[in-house]
Amino acid sequence: MQLFLDGSDIEKIRKFSKLGLIDGVTTNPSIILKSGKNMIEVISELAEIVSGSVSAEVSALDSETMIEEGIKLSEIAKNVTVKLPITWDGLAACNALYKKDISVNMTLCFSVSQALLAAKAGAEYVSPFIGRLDDLNLKGVELISDIKLVYSNYKFPTKILAASIRTINHVKECARHGSDVATIPIDIFERLVKHPLTDSGLSQFTADWEKTGQSII
Ligand code: E4P
Repeated sequence: MQLFLDGSDIEKIRKFSKLGLIDGVTTNPSIILKSGKNMIEVISELAEIVSGSVSAEVSALDSETMIEEGIKLSEIAKNVTVKLPITWDGLAACNALYKKDISVNMTLCFSVSQALLAAKAGAEYVSPFIGRLDDLNLKGVELISDIKLVYSNYKFPTKILAASIRTINHVKECARHGSDVATIPIDIFERLVKHPLTDSGLSQFTADWEKTGQSII
Protein backbone atom coordinates (compact mmCIF):
# COMPACT_ATOMS: atom_id res chain seq x y z
CA MET A 1 0.00 0.00 0.00
CA GLN A 2 1.34 3.42 -0.88
CA LEU A 3 1.42 5.97 1.91
CA PHE A 4 0.40 9.56 1.18
CA LEU A 5 0.29 12.39 3.70
CA ASP A 6 -2.99 14.30 3.90
CA GLY A 7 -1.89 17.81 4.82
CA SER A 8 0.37 20.73 3.99
CA ASP A 9 2.86 21.03 6.87
CA ILE A 10 5.96 21.50 4.71
CA GLU A 11 8.54 20.77 7.43
CA LYS A 12 6.91 17.55 8.60
CA ILE A 13 6.28 16.36 5.03
CA ARG A 14 9.94 17.07 4.22
CA LYS A 15 11.05 15.11 7.31
CA PHE A 16 9.05 11.96 6.50
CA SER A 17 9.82 12.23 2.82
CA LYS A 18 13.57 12.17 3.60
CA LEU A 19 12.99 8.85 5.37
CA GLY A 20 11.77 7.44 2.04
CA LEU A 21 8.34 6.63 3.48
CA ILE A 22 6.09 9.02 1.58
CA ASP A 23 4.69 8.19 -1.85
CA GLY A 24 2.55 11.31 -2.29
CA VAL A 25 0.52 14.08 -0.68
CA THR A 26 -3.13 15.11 -0.81
CA THR A 27 -4.61 18.51 -0.04
CA ASN A 28 -8.12 19.95 -0.13
CA PRO A 29 -9.58 23.45 0.30
CA SER A 30 -9.98 22.95 4.07
CA ILE A 31 -6.29 21.98 4.40
CA ILE A 32 -5.27 25.05 2.37
CA LEU A 33 -7.47 27.28 4.56
CA LYS A 34 -5.86 25.86 7.69
CA SER A 35 -2.36 26.45 6.30
CA GLY A 36 -3.12 30.16 5.83
CA LYS A 37 -0.90 30.05 2.73
CA ASN A 38 -1.37 30.60 -1.00
CA MET A 39 -2.48 27.35 -2.63
CA ILE A 40 -0.26 27.62 -5.73
CA GLU A 41 2.79 28.22 -3.52
CA VAL A 42 1.93 25.31 -1.20
CA ILE A 43 1.42 22.91 -4.12
CA SER A 44 4.68 23.98 -5.84
CA GLU A 45 6.62 23.44 -2.63
CA LEU A 46 5.02 20.04 -1.96
CA ALA A 47 5.63 18.91 -5.54
CA GLU A 48 9.34 19.66 -5.09
CA ILE A 49 9.64 17.83 -1.77
CA VAL A 50 7.76 14.70 -2.85
CA SER A 51 8.47 12.91 -6.12
CA GLY A 52 5.07 11.14 -6.16
CA SER A 53 1.59 12.50 -6.78
CA VAL A 54 0.50 15.76 -5.12
CA SER A 55 -3.27 16.29 -5.25
CA ALA A 56 -4.52 19.85 -5.70
CA GLU A 57 -8.28 20.45 -5.71
CA VAL A 58 -10.17 22.72 -8.12
CA SER A 59 -12.60 25.28 -6.71
CA ALA A 60 -15.03 25.55 -9.65
CA LEU A 61 -18.28 23.61 -9.83
CA ASP A 62 -18.83 23.79 -13.62
CA SER A 63 -16.86 21.55 -15.94
CA GLU A 64 -15.51 24.28 -18.18
CA THR A 65 -13.90 26.20 -15.32
CA MET A 66 -12.81 22.95 -13.65
CA ILE A 67 -10.90 22.06 -16.83
CA GLU A 68 -9.31 25.52 -16.94
CA GLU A 69 -8.31 25.32 -13.26
CA GLY A 70 -7.14 21.72 -13.69
CA ILE A 71 -4.84 22.66 -16.58
CA LYS A 72 -3.41 25.55 -14.53
CA LEU A 73 -2.80 23.30 -11.51
CA SER A 74 -1.22 20.58 -13.67
CA GLU A 75 1.22 23.15 -15.03
CA ILE A 76 2.67 23.76 -11.55
CA ALA A 77 4.69 20.52 -11.74
CA LYS A 78 4.69 17.17 -13.53
CA ASN A 79 3.63 15.30 -10.38
CA VAL A 80 0.52 17.38 -9.66
CA THR A 81 -2.73 15.38 -9.70
CA VAL A 82 -5.90 17.41 -10.24
CA LYS A 83 -8.56 16.69 -7.64
CA LEU A 84 -12.18 16.91 -8.81
CA PRO A 85 -15.45 16.20 -7.00
CA ILE A 86 -17.60 13.31 -8.23
CA THR A 87 -20.42 15.25 -9.87
CA TRP A 88 -21.53 15.18 -13.52
CA ASP A 89 -19.44 18.29 -14.14
CA GLY A 90 -16.51 16.74 -12.29
CA LEU A 91 -16.76 13.58 -14.40
CA ALA A 92 -16.87 15.60 -17.62
CA ALA A 93 -13.80 17.54 -16.52
CA CYS A 94 -12.07 14.31 -15.50
CA ASN A 95 -12.57 12.82 -18.94
CA ALA A 96 -11.37 16.01 -20.67
CA LEU A 97 -8.22 16.14 -18.49
CA TYR A 98 -7.63 12.39 -18.94
CA LYS A 99 -7.63 12.94 -22.72
CA LYS A 100 -4.92 15.56 -22.19
CA ASP A 101 -2.86 13.04 -20.18
CA ILE A 102 -3.44 14.90 -16.93
CA SER A 103 -3.65 12.81 -13.76
CA VAL A 104 -6.99 13.12 -11.91
CA ASN A 105 -8.06 12.15 -8.39
CA MET A 106 -11.88 11.94 -8.11
CA THR A 107 -12.74 12.97 -4.57
CA LEU A 108 -15.70 12.83 -2.17
CA CYS A 109 -16.51 9.24 -3.17
CA PHE A 110 -19.10 7.57 -0.96
CA SER A 111 -20.44 4.75 -3.15
CA VAL A 112 -19.41 2.02 -5.57
CA SER A 113 -21.49 3.60 -8.35
CA GLN A 114 -19.54 6.86 -7.98
CA ALA A 115 -16.26 4.91 -8.08
CA LEU A 116 -17.42 3.10 -11.22
CA LEU A 117 -18.15 6.42 -12.94
CA ALA A 118 -14.78 7.84 -11.87
CA ALA A 119 -12.98 4.85 -13.41
CA LYS A 120 -15.02 5.11 -16.63
CA ALA A 121 -14.09 8.81 -16.85
CA GLY A 122 -10.38 7.93 -16.74
CA ALA A 123 -9.44 8.92 -13.18
CA GLU A 124 -6.00 7.82 -12.01
CA TYR A 125 -7.26 7.78 -8.39
CA VAL A 126 -10.62 7.58 -6.67
CA SER A 127 -10.87 8.77 -3.06
CA PRO A 128 -13.42 6.96 -0.87
CA PHE A 129 -13.89 8.92 2.39
CA ILE A 130 -13.96 6.19 4.99
CA GLY A 131 -14.00 8.35 8.15
CA ARG A 132 -17.01 10.37 7.01
CA LEU A 133 -18.91 7.12 6.33
CA ASP A 134 -17.97 5.84 9.80
CA ASP A 135 -19.34 9.13 11.20
CA LEU A 136 -22.74 8.02 9.85
CA ASN A 137 -22.39 4.63 11.53
CA LEU A 138 -21.58 2.96 8.22
CA LYS A 139 -18.56 0.73 7.63
CA GLY A 140 -16.24 2.96 5.60
CA VAL A 141 -13.62 0.30 4.90
CA GLU A 142 -16.21 -2.00 3.31
CA LEU A 143 -16.44 0.54 0.50
CA ILE A 144 -12.74 -0.10 -0.18
CA SER A 145 -13.25 -3.83 -0.72
CA ASP A 146 -16.44 -3.28 -2.76
CA ILE A 147 -14.69 -0.87 -5.11
CA LYS A 148 -11.71 -3.21 -5.30
CA LEU A 149 -13.95 -6.08 -6.39
CA VAL A 150 -15.66 -4.00 -9.09
CA TYR A 151 -12.38 -2.59 -10.39
CA SER A 152 -10.81 -6.05 -10.55
CA ASN A 153 -13.92 -7.51 -12.31
CA TYR A 154 -13.33 -5.10 -15.19
CA LYS A 155 -9.58 -4.52 -14.83
CA PHE A 156 -9.96 -0.76 -14.34
CA PRO A 157 -6.52 0.78 -13.74
CA THR A 158 -7.93 3.47 -11.39
CA LYS A 159 -6.22 3.29 -7.99
CA ILE A 160 -8.17 3.32 -4.73
CA LEU A 161 -6.89 6.15 -2.53
CA ALA A 162 -8.47 5.73 0.89
CA ALA A 163 -9.16 9.17 2.39
CA SER A 164 -10.74 10.67 5.50
CA ILE A 165 -8.59 8.44 7.70
CA ARG A 166 -9.11 9.23 11.37
CA THR A 167 -7.36 6.43 13.30
CA ILE A 168 -4.39 4.07 13.23
CA ASN A 169 -6.92 1.26 12.93
CA HIS A 170 -8.23 2.82 9.72
CA VAL A 171 -4.71 2.54 8.26
CA LYS A 172 -4.56 -1.14 9.20
CA GLU A 173 -8.03 -1.81 7.79
CA CYS A 174 -7.21 -0.03 4.51
CA ALA A 175 -4.18 -2.29 4.12
CA ARG A 176 -6.22 -5.40 5.03
CA HIS A 177 -8.87 -4.48 2.47
CA GLY A 178 -6.24 -3.98 -0.22
CA SER A 179 -6.44 -0.23 -0.78
CA ASP A 180 -3.79 0.89 -3.29
CA VAL A 181 -3.07 4.05 -1.31
CA ALA A 182 -3.97 5.49 2.09
CA THR A 183 -3.69 9.23 2.60
CA ILE A 184 -2.99 9.80 6.26
CA PRO A 185 -3.24 13.01 8.33
CA ILE A 186 0.22 13.91 9.60
CA ASP A 187 -0.66 13.53 13.32
CA ILE A 188 -1.88 9.97 12.70
CA PHE A 189 1.14 9.14 10.54
CA GLU A 190 3.42 10.25 13.42
CA ARG A 191 1.71 7.76 15.72
CA LEU A 192 2.00 4.77 13.36
CA VAL A 193 5.42 3.78 14.71
CA LYS A 194 4.48 3.92 18.39
CA HIS A 195 3.85 0.86 20.53
CA PRO A 196 4.37 0.70 24.33
CA LEU A 197 5.92 -2.77 24.04
CA THR A 198 8.47 -1.42 21.55
CA ASP A 199 9.39 1.32 24.06
CA SER A 200 9.66 -0.98 27.08
CA GLY A 201 11.47 -3.70 25.09
CA LEU A 202 14.00 -1.19 23.81
CA SER A 203 14.65 0.21 27.33
CA GLN A 204 15.32 -3.31 28.58
CA PHE A 205 17.67 -4.19 25.69
CA THR A 206 19.56 -0.90 26.06
CA ALA A 207 20.02 -1.40 29.81
CA ASP A 208 21.20 -5.01 29.36
CA TRP A 209 23.58 -4.05 26.56
CA GLU A 210 25.20 -1.41 28.76
CA LYS A 211 25.76 -4.10 31.42
CA THR A 212 27.71 -6.25 28.93
CA GLY A 213 30.33 -3.47 28.71
CA GLN A 214 30.75 -4.22 25.00
CA SER A 215 30.72 -1.88 21.97
CA ILE A 216 30.04 -2.70 18.33
CA ILE A 217 31.99 0.16 16.75
C1 E4P B 1 -8.10 13.76 1.18
O1 E4P B 1 -7.93 13.60 0.00
C2 E4P B 1 -9.39 14.18 1.75
O2 E4P B 1 -9.73 15.45 1.30
C3 E4P B 1 -9.32 14.12 3.26
O3 E4P B 1 -8.77 12.88 3.64
C4 E4P B 1 -10.66 14.36 3.94
O4 E4P B 1 -10.55 14.07 5.30
P1 E4P B 1 -11.65 14.51 6.38
O5 E4P B 1 -12.90 13.74 6.13
O6 E4P B 1 -11.05 14.18 7.71
O7 E4P B 1 -11.85 15.99 6.17
